Amino acid sequence: MTEVDVRVLDNSERRAAHDVARGAQHLAAVSDGEWAYVRDLHEHGPVLGAFLGESLAGTVRLIPSGLALPGGVTVPMAATTGSGVRADRTGRGVFTGLRRESLRLAAEQGFPVMGNLVTGAMLYGRFGHGVGTRSRAVRLNPREARLRPEVPTDGDVRLVDPEASIGLLPRLYEGLGPYRPGVMDRSAHWWRAKWERLVRAGKSPSVAVHRGPDGDDGFAVYEAKRSGPGPRVTLMVTDFHAARPEAVAGLWRFLLGIDLVEEVCARRRPTDELVEGMLVNWRACRTHALDDDLWLRLVDLPKALDARAYGDGDPLVVGVVDDVLPGNSANYLISPAGAAPTEERPQLTLSVQALAMAYLGTMSFAALASVGSVRVLDDKALPGADRLFGARPAAFCGTLF
Ligand SMILES: CC(C)(COP(=O)(O)OP(=O)(O)OC[C@H]1O[C@@H](n2cnc3c(N)ncnc32)[C@H](O)[C@@H]1OP(=O)(O)O)[C@@H](O)C(=O)NCCC(=O)NCCS
Repeated sequence: MTEVDVRVLDNSERRAAHDVARGAQHLAAVSDGEWAYVRDLHEHGPVLGAFLGESLAGTVRLIPSGLALPGGVTVPMAATTGSGVRADRTGRGVFTGLRRESLRLAAEQGFPVMGNLVTGAMLYGRFGHGVGTRSRAVRLNPREARLRPEVPTDGDVRLVDPEASIGLLPRLYEGLGPYRPGVMDRSAHWWRAKWERLVRAGKSPSVAVHRGPDGDDGFAVYEAKRSGPGPRVTLMVTDFHAARPEAVAGLWRFLLGIDLVEEVCARRRPTDELVEGMLVNWRACRTHALDDDLWLRLVDLPKALDARAYGDGDPLVVGVVDDVLPGNSANYLISPAGAAPTEERPQLTLSVQALAMAYLGTMSFAALASVGSVRVLDDKALPGADRLFGARPAAFCGTLF
Protein backbone atom coordinates (compact mmCIF):
# COMPACT_ATOMS: atom_id res chain seq x y z
CA MET A 1 0.00 0.00 0.00
CA THR A 2 1.24 3.56 -0.76
CA GLU A 3 2.72 5.18 2.30
CA VAL A 4 1.05 8.26 3.80
CA ASP A 5 3.29 11.31 3.69
CA VAL A 6 2.20 14.09 6.07
CA ARG A 7 3.68 17.58 5.91
CA VAL A 8 2.89 21.21 6.70
CA LEU A 9 1.31 22.84 3.64
CA ASP A 10 2.37 26.19 2.26
CA ASN A 11 -0.07 29.06 1.73
CA SER A 12 -0.73 28.22 -1.91
CA GLU A 13 -2.04 24.77 -0.89
CA ARG A 14 -4.41 25.90 1.87
CA ARG A 15 -7.52 26.46 -0.19
CA ALA A 16 -7.30 23.00 -1.77
CA ALA A 17 -6.93 21.53 1.73
CA HIS A 18 -9.93 23.49 2.97
CA ASP A 19 -11.99 22.08 0.11
CA VAL A 20 -10.86 18.53 0.91
CA ALA A 21 -12.07 19.02 4.51
CA ARG A 22 -15.36 20.47 3.28
CA GLY A 23 -15.81 17.63 0.79
CA ALA A 24 -15.40 15.09 3.64
CA GLN A 25 -18.26 16.90 5.43
CA HIS A 26 -20.39 16.83 2.24
CA LEU A 27 -20.03 20.57 1.69
CA ALA A 28 -19.26 22.30 -1.59
CA ALA A 29 -15.92 23.98 -2.25
CA VAL A 30 -15.76 27.59 -0.97
CA SER A 31 -16.52 30.50 -3.29
CA ASP A 32 -13.92 33.25 -3.81
CA GLY A 33 -16.00 35.57 -1.60
CA GLU A 34 -16.16 33.09 1.29
CA TRP A 35 -12.48 32.26 0.97
CA ALA A 36 -11.62 35.94 1.42
CA TYR A 37 -12.96 35.68 5.01
CA VAL A 38 -12.03 32.10 5.83
CA ARG A 39 -8.50 32.48 4.50
CA ASP A 40 -7.59 34.77 7.36
CA LEU A 41 -8.48 32.14 9.97
CA HIS A 42 -6.95 29.45 7.79
CA GLU A 43 -3.61 31.20 7.63
CA HIS A 44 -3.54 31.67 11.39
CA GLY A 45 -1.66 28.47 12.20
CA PRO A 46 -0.27 25.48 10.33
CA VAL A 47 -2.28 23.19 8.05
CA LEU A 48 -1.20 19.60 7.61
CA GLY A 49 -1.73 17.75 4.36
CA ALA A 50 -1.52 13.98 3.98
CA PHE A 51 -0.42 12.76 0.59
CA LEU A 52 -0.78 9.36 -1.04
CA GLY A 53 1.71 9.65 -3.86
CA GLU A 54 1.21 13.10 -5.37
CA SER A 55 -2.42 13.58 -4.39
CA LEU A 56 -3.70 15.39 -1.30
CA ALA A 57 -5.82 12.81 0.50
CA GLY A 58 -6.58 14.46 3.84
CA THR A 59 -5.94 17.44 6.05
CA VAL A 60 -6.16 18.98 9.52
CA ARG A 61 -5.50 22.51 10.83
CA LEU A 62 -3.99 23.73 14.09
CA ILE A 63 -5.24 27.10 15.31
CA PRO A 64 -3.27 28.73 18.15
CA SER A 65 -5.68 29.49 20.98
CA GLY A 66 -5.82 29.51 24.76
CA LEU A 67 -7.74 27.37 27.25
CA ALA A 68 -8.98 28.56 30.64
CA LEU A 69 -8.05 26.21 33.50
CA PRO A 70 -9.34 25.83 37.05
CA GLY A 71 -7.79 28.71 38.97
CA GLY A 72 -8.25 31.18 36.12
CA VAL A 73 -4.96 30.63 34.29
CA THR A 74 -5.07 30.33 30.48
CA VAL A 75 -2.65 27.93 28.75
CA PRO A 76 -1.76 27.82 25.04
CA MET A 77 -4.01 25.35 23.22
CA ALA A 78 -3.67 24.00 19.69
CA ALA A 79 -7.27 23.95 18.50
CA THR A 80 -7.51 21.39 15.70
CA THR A 81 -10.22 21.60 13.10
CA GLY A 82 -10.87 21.13 9.38
CA SER A 83 -10.15 17.44 9.72
CA GLY A 84 -11.15 15.23 6.83
CA VAL A 85 -10.09 12.58 4.36
CA ARG A 86 -11.25 12.30 0.74
CA ALA A 87 -13.97 9.67 0.47
CA ASP A 88 -11.95 7.83 -2.18
CA ARG A 89 -8.82 7.70 0.03
CA THR A 90 -10.22 6.42 3.35
CA GLY A 91 -9.13 3.19 5.04
CA ARG A 92 -5.44 3.77 4.23
CA GLY A 93 -4.26 5.30 7.50
CA VAL A 94 -4.53 8.94 6.35
CA PHE A 95 -6.40 10.17 9.42
CA THR A 96 -4.04 8.21 11.69
CA GLY A 97 -1.02 9.84 10.04
CA LEU A 98 -2.58 13.31 10.39
CA ARG A 99 -3.44 12.86 14.08
CA ARG A 100 0.00 11.58 14.98
CA GLU A 101 1.76 14.37 13.10
CA SER A 102 -0.54 17.04 14.57
CA LEU A 103 0.35 15.83 18.09
CA ARG A 104 4.05 15.87 17.26
CA LEU A 105 3.75 19.38 15.83
CA ALA A 106 1.72 20.69 18.79
CA ALA A 107 4.37 19.33 21.18
CA GLU A 108 7.18 20.85 19.09
CA GLN A 109 5.43 24.23 19.05
CA GLY A 110 5.03 24.20 22.84
CA PHE A 111 1.28 23.64 23.24
CA PRO A 112 0.59 21.83 26.53
CA VAL A 113 -2.94 20.94 25.38
CA MET A 114 -4.86 20.31 22.18
CA GLY A 115 -8.61 20.83 21.84
CA ASN A 116 -11.09 19.88 19.18
CA LEU A 117 -14.77 19.40 18.46
CA VAL A 118 -15.53 15.92 17.34
CA THR A 119 -17.79 14.56 14.62
CA GLY A 120 -16.93 10.89 15.08
CA ALA A 121 -16.69 10.07 18.78
CA MET A 122 -15.10 6.67 18.01
CA LEU A 123 -12.11 8.18 16.28
CA TYR A 124 -10.24 10.13 18.93
CA GLY A 125 -9.84 7.97 22.05
CA ARG A 126 -7.10 5.93 20.42
CA PHE A 127 -5.01 9.11 20.08
CA GLY A 128 -5.49 10.04 23.75
CA HIS A 129 -8.31 12.59 23.39
CA GLY A 130 -11.12 12.61 25.93
CA VAL A 131 -14.26 14.64 26.65
CA GLY A 132 -12.89 17.73 28.40
CA THR A 133 -16.11 19.73 28.77
CA ARG A 134 -19.80 18.97 28.42
CA SER A 135 -22.76 21.13 27.54
CA ARG A 136 -26.51 20.92 27.98
CA ALA A 137 -29.20 21.58 25.37
CA VAL A 138 -32.42 23.05 26.79
CA ARG A 139 -35.88 23.90 25.47
CA LEU A 140 -38.28 26.35 27.11
CA ASN A 141 -41.83 27.34 26.33
CA PRO A 142 -41.90 31.09 27.08
CA ARG A 143 -45.60 31.00 27.99
CA GLU A 144 -44.79 28.68 30.93
CA ALA A 145 -41.27 29.89 31.69
CA ARG A 146 -41.73 32.89 33.97
CA LEU A 147 -38.77 33.98 36.08
CA ARG A 148 -39.11 33.99 39.88
CA PRO A 149 -38.96 37.50 41.37
CA GLU A 150 -35.98 36.55 43.58
CA VAL A 151 -33.74 35.87 40.56
CA PRO A 152 -30.98 38.48 40.73
CA THR A 153 -31.20 41.37 38.33
CA ASP A 154 -29.18 44.56 37.97
CA GLY A 155 -28.97 45.61 34.37
CA ASP A 156 -30.60 46.04 31.04
CA VAL A 157 -30.55 44.22 27.70
CA ARG A 158 -30.41 45.96 24.34
CA LEU A 159 -30.34 44.71 20.76
CA VAL A 160 -27.21 45.66 18.86
CA ASP A 161 -27.21 46.27 15.14
CA PRO A 162 -25.07 43.88 13.07
CA GLU A 163 -22.48 46.45 11.98
CA ALA A 164 -21.85 47.57 15.57
CA SER A 165 -21.60 43.95 16.73
CA ILE A 166 -18.45 43.43 14.61
CA GLY A 167 -16.42 45.56 16.99
CA LEU A 168 -18.45 45.06 20.15
CA LEU A 169 -18.68 41.26 20.45
CA PRO A 170 -14.92 40.55 20.32
CA ARG A 171 -14.28 43.21 23.00
CA LEU A 172 -17.08 41.89 25.17
CA TYR A 173 -15.98 38.26 24.88
CA GLU A 174 -12.38 39.15 25.67
CA GLY A 175 -13.51 41.24 28.62
CA LEU A 176 -15.22 38.21 30.14
CA GLY A 177 -11.79 36.55 30.41
CA PRO A 178 -11.33 32.97 31.64
CA TYR A 179 -14.62 33.08 33.51
CA ARG A 180 -15.04 29.30 33.50
CA PRO A 181 -12.57 26.43 32.98
CA GLY A 182 -12.85 25.30 29.36
CA VAL A 183 -13.54 28.73 27.88
CA MET A 184 -11.20 29.32 24.94
CA ASP A 185 -9.68 32.41 23.36
CA ARG A 186 -11.27 33.74 20.19
CA SER A 187 -8.74 35.49 17.94
CA ALA A 188 -9.50 38.43 15.65
CA HIS A 189 -9.19 35.87 12.83
CA TRP A 190 -11.92 33.74 14.44
CA TRP A 191 -14.28 36.71 14.71
CA ARG A 192 -13.66 37.73 11.13
CA ALA A 193 -14.25 34.25 9.69
CA LYS A 194 -17.10 33.20 11.98
CA TRP A 195 -18.95 36.44 12.64
CA GLU A 196 -18.00 39.32 10.35
CA ARG A 197 -18.54 37.05 7.32
CA LEU A 198 -22.18 36.50 8.37
CA VAL A 199 -22.75 40.20 8.98
CA ARG A 200 -21.29 41.18 5.60
CA ALA A 201 -23.46 38.56 3.88
CA GLY A 202 -26.55 39.99 5.59
CA LYS A 203 -27.06 36.68 7.43
CA SER A 204 -26.14 37.55 10.99
CA PRO A 205 -28.49 36.41 13.74
CA SER A 206 -29.81 38.88 16.35
CA VAL A 207 -27.46 40.05 19.11
CA ALA A 208 -28.66 40.91 22.63
CA VAL A 209 -26.16 42.53 25.00
CA HIS A 210 -26.54 42.80 28.76
CA ARG A 211 -25.28 45.95 30.44
CA GLY A 212 -24.58 45.70 34.17
CA PRO A 213 -23.35 48.30 36.67
CA ASP A 214 -19.82 48.18 35.19
CA GLY A 215 -20.78 48.12 31.52
CA ASP A 216 -21.49 45.41 28.94
CA ASP A 217 -21.03 42.02 30.57
CA GLY A 218 -22.77 39.35 28.50
CA PHE A 219 -24.36 38.56 25.16
CA ALA A 220 -26.74 36.12 23.53
CA VAL A 221 -26.89 35.52 19.79
CA TYR A 222 -30.12 34.00 18.47
CA GLU A 223 -31.96 33.18 15.27
CA ALA A 224 -35.69 32.95 14.69
CA LYS A 225 -36.86 29.84 12.80
CA ARG A 226 -40.39 29.69 11.46
CA SER A 227 -41.73 26.18 11.61
CA GLY A 228 -45.34 26.62 10.40
CA PRO A 229 -47.59 29.12 8.63
CA GLY A 230 -48.41 31.14 11.80
CA PRO A 231 -46.52 34.15 13.15
CA ARG A 232 -44.84 32.23 15.98
CA VAL A 233 -41.19 31.24 15.75
CA THR A 234 -38.62 29.12 17.55
CA LEU A 235 -35.63 31.03 18.88
CA MET A 236 -32.36 29.15 18.47
CA VAL A 237 -29.75 30.57 20.84
CA THR A 238 -26.42 29.88 19.18
CA ASP A 239 -23.87 31.78 21.26
CA PHE A 240 -24.38 32.93 24.85
CA HIS A 241 -21.62 34.04 27.20
CA ALA A 242 -21.86 35.88 30.49
CA ALA A 243 -20.01 35.45 33.76
CA ARG A 244 -22.08 37.21 36.42
CA PRO A 245 -25.30 35.49 37.56
CA GLU A 246 -27.18 38.79 37.11
CA ALA A 247 -26.09 38.99 33.47
CA VAL A 248 -26.96 35.33 32.81
CA ALA A 249 -30.42 35.80 34.35
CA GLY A 250 -30.92 39.12 32.58
CA LEU A 251 -30.26 37.53 29.19
CA TRP A 252 -32.59 34.60 29.94
CA ARG A 253 -35.27 37.05 31.10
CA PHE A 254 -34.92 38.93 27.83
CA LEU A 255 -34.99 35.79 25.63
CA LEU A 256 -38.07 34.44 27.41
CA GLY A 257 -39.87 37.78 27.14
CA ILE A 258 -39.70 38.14 23.33
CA ASP A 259 -43.16 38.13 21.77
CA LEU A 260 -44.49 35.62 19.20
CA VAL A 261 -42.09 32.91 20.32
CA GLU A 262 -43.25 29.30 20.57
CA GLU A 263 -40.06 27.89 22.00
CA VAL A 264 -36.58 28.99 23.05
CA CYS A 265 -33.86 26.41 22.33
CA ALA A 266 -30.31 26.79 23.55
CA ARG A 267 -28.00 24.07 22.37
CA ARG A 268 -24.78 24.82 24.28
CA ARG A 269 -25.21 25.82 27.90
CA PRO A 270 -23.01 25.05 30.91
CA THR A 271 -24.15 21.91 32.74
CA ASP A 272 -24.43 23.77 36.06
CA GLU A 273 -26.44 26.74 34.77
CA LEU A 274 -29.62 26.38 36.83
CA VAL A 275 -32.18 27.65 34.33
CA GLU A 276 -34.92 25.54 35.99
CA GLY A 277 -34.14 27.24 39.29
CA MET A 278 -34.81 30.66 37.77
CA LEU A 279 -38.37 29.68 36.88
CA VAL A 280 -41.67 29.65 38.76
CA ASN A 281 -42.36 26.34 37.04
CA TRP A 282 -39.30 24.09 37.30
CA ARG A 283 -40.51 21.88 34.45
CA ALA A 284 -40.81 24.75 31.98
CA CYS A 285 -37.16 24.09 31.12
CA ARG A 286 -36.49 20.69 29.57
CA THR A 287 -33.04 19.22 29.02
CA HIS A 288 -33.02 17.41 25.72
CA ALA A 289 -29.32 16.58 25.40
CA LEU A 290 -26.16 16.37 27.44
CA ASP A 291 -23.46 16.67 24.82
CA ASP A 292 -19.71 16.39 24.74
CA ASP A 293 -18.42 19.89 24.06
CA LEU A 294 -14.63 20.35 23.83
CA TRP A 295 -12.44 17.25 23.56
CA LEU A 296 -8.99 17.59 25.10
CA ARG A 297 -5.63 16.00 24.52
CA LEU A 298 -2.94 16.61 27.13
CA VAL A 299 0.14 17.01 24.93
CA ASP A 300 2.81 18.05 27.42
CA LEU A 301 1.60 16.36 30.57
CA PRO A 302 4.06 17.82 33.12
CA LYS A 303 3.26 21.36 31.90
CA ALA A 304 -0.49 20.79 31.60
CA LEU A 305 -0.77 19.24 35.06
CA ASP A 306 1.29 21.93 36.73
CA ALA A 307 -0.60 24.80 35.07
CA ARG A 308 -4.01 24.28 36.71
CA ALA A 309 -4.93 25.06 40.30
CA TYR A 310 -5.95 22.21 42.60
CA GLY A 311 -8.41 22.02 45.45
CA ASP A 312 -7.52 21.13 49.03
CA GLY A 313 -6.44 17.56 49.52
CA ASP A 314 -3.59 15.27 50.47
CA PRO A 315 -0.79 14.85 47.94
CA LEU A 316 -1.63 12.13 45.43
CA VAL A 317 0.46 10.01 43.07
CA VAL A 318 -1.18 9.09 39.76
CA GLY A 319 0.38 6.84 37.15
CA VAL A 320 -0.42 7.90 33.59
CA VAL A 321 -0.05 5.77 30.46
CA ASP A 322 0.28 7.47 27.07
CA ASP A 323 0.86 5.09 24.17
CA VAL A 324 1.01 7.80 21.48
CA LEU A 325 3.34 10.28 23.23
CA PRO A 326 5.27 7.87 25.49
CA GLY A 327 7.31 10.69 27.04
CA ASN A 328 4.19 11.55 29.07
CA SER A 329 3.99 8.07 30.63
CA ALA A 330 5.13 8.58 34.22
CA ASN A 331 3.98 8.87 37.82
CA TYR A 332 2.98 12.39 38.88
CA LEU A 333 2.82 13.82 42.38
CA ILE A 334 -0.14 16.20 42.57
CA SER A 335 -0.95 18.47 45.49
CA PRO A 336 -2.49 21.92 46.08
CA ALA A 337 1.03 23.30 45.42
CA GLY A 338 1.21 21.90 41.86
CA ALA A 339 2.25 18.77 39.99
CA ALA A 340 5.51 17.15 38.92
CA PRO A 341 6.83 13.74 37.83
CA THR A 342 7.90 11.52 40.71
CA GLU A 343 9.55 8.17 41.37
CA GLU A 344 6.95 7.37 44.05
CA ARG A 345 4.54 4.46 43.55
CA PRO A 346 1.12 5.41 42.11
CA GLN A 347 -2.11 5.22 44.11
CA LEU A 348 -4.26 5.44 40.97
CA THR A 349 -3.42 4.67 37.36
CA LEU A 350 -5.22 5.81 34.24
CA SER A 351 -4.73 6.50 30.54
CA VAL A 352 -3.96 9.98 29.23
CA GLN A 353 -7.44 9.90 27.63
CA ALA A 354 -9.16 9.34 30.99
CA LEU A 355 -7.02 12.06 32.55
CA ALA A 356 -8.21 14.51 29.85
CA MET A 357 -11.77 13.90 31.12
CA ALA A 358 -10.79 14.68 34.72
CA TYR A 359 -8.41 17.52 33.90
CA LEU A 360 -10.97 20.36 34.01
CA GLY A 361 -13.08 18.61 36.66
CA THR A 362 -15.69 17.45 34.12
CA MET A 363 -15.57 13.76 35.14
CA SER A 364 -14.81 12.71 38.68
CA PHE A 365 -12.18 10.07 39.39
CA ALA A 366 -14.90 8.12 41.22
CA ALA A 367 -17.08 8.07 38.09
CA LEU A 368 -14.14 7.13 35.89
CA ALA A 369 -13.17 4.34 38.30
CA SER A 370 -16.76 3.05 38.27
CA VAL A 371 -16.52 2.44 34.52
CA GLY A 372 -13.07 0.88 34.64
CA SER A 373 -11.16 3.94 33.38
CA VAL A 374 -9.16 4.42 36.62
CA ARG A 375 -7.36 1.58 38.39
CA VAL A 376 -7.47 2.10 42.15
CA LEU A 377 -4.39 0.80 43.96
CA ASP A 378 -5.07 2.70 47.19
CA ASP A 379 -8.75 3.08 48.25
CA LYS A 380 -8.09 6.27 50.19
CA ALA A 381 -6.81 8.00 47.05
CA LEU A 382 -10.10 8.20 45.15
CA PRO A 383 -11.97 10.80 47.28
CA GLY A 384 -8.72 12.74 47.65
CA ALA A 385 -8.27 12.85 43.87
CA ASP A 386 -11.75 14.32 43.48
CA ARG A 387 -11.04 16.99 46.09
CA LEU A 388 -7.89 17.97 44.19
CA PHE A 389 -9.33 17.90 40.66
CA GLY A 390 -12.93 19.02 41.34
CA ALA A 391 -13.65 22.48 39.89
CA ARG A 392 -16.45 25.01 40.18
CA PRO A 393 -18.02 26.47 38.12
CA ALA A 394 -18.36 23.49 35.77
CA ALA A 395 -16.09 23.53 32.74
CA PHE A 396 -17.70 24.74 29.53
CA CYS A 397 -16.30 25.85 26.18
CA GLY A 398 -19.23 27.04 24.03
CA THR A 399 -17.15 28.08 21.02
CA LEU A 400 -17.48 26.51 17.59
CA PHE A 401 -14.25 26.43 15.61
C1 LIG B 1 -13.48 9.39 9.60
C2 LIG B 1 -12.32 9.64 8.68
C3 LIG B 1 -11.50 10.80 9.21
C4 LIG B 1 -11.43 8.37 8.67
O1 LIG B 1 -10.26 8.61 7.89
P1 LIG B 1 -9.33 7.39 7.42
O2 LIG B 1 -8.14 7.96 6.77
O3 LIG B 1 -10.12 6.41 6.67
O4 LIG B 1 -8.94 6.76 8.82
P2 LIG B 1 -7.75 5.71 9.05
O5 LIG B 1 -7.57 4.88 7.82
O6 LIG B 1 -6.56 6.40 9.59
O7 LIG B 1 -8.43 4.81 10.17
C5 LIG B 1 -8.29 5.06 11.52
C6 LIG B 1 -9.04 4.05 12.31
O8 LIG B 1 -10.36 4.56 12.55
C7 LIG B 1 -11.33 3.63 12.07
N1 LIG B 1 -12.39 4.42 11.45
C8 LIG B 1 -12.39 4.99 10.24
N2 LIG B 1 -13.53 5.67 10.05
C9 LIG B 1 -14.26 5.51 11.17
C10 LIG B 1 -15.53 5.98 11.60
N3 LIG B 1 -16.30 6.76 10.85
N4 LIG B 1 -15.97 5.62 12.83
C11 LIG B 1 -15.20 4.82 13.62
N5 LIG B 1 -13.99 4.37 13.28
C12 LIG B 1 -13.52 4.70 12.07
C13 LIG B 1 -10.58 2.76 11.07
O9 LIG B 1 -11.19 1.50 10.99
C14 LIG B 1 -9.22 2.69 11.67
O10 LIG B 1 -9.19 1.75 12.73
P3 LIG B 1 -8.13 0.52 12.75
O11 LIG B 1 -6.78 1.21 12.75
O12 LIG B 1 -8.43 -0.17 14.02
O13 LIG B 1 -8.40 -0.24 11.50
C15 LIG B 1 -12.79 9.95 7.23
O14 LIG B 1 -13.65 8.93 6.80
C16 LIG B 1 -13.51 11.29 7.12
O15 LIG B 1 -12.90 12.27 6.76
N6 LIG B 1 -14.83 11.33 7.42
C17 LIG B 1 -15.65 12.52 7.29
C18 LIG B 1 -15.18 13.71 8.12
C19 LIG B 1 -14.90 13.35 9.56
O16 LIG B 1 -15.61 12.61 10.20
N7 LIG B 1 -13.79 13.90 10.07
C20 LIG B 1 -13.39 13.73 11.44
C21 LIG B 1 -13.66 15.06 12.02
S1 LIG B 1 -13.89 15.15 13.70
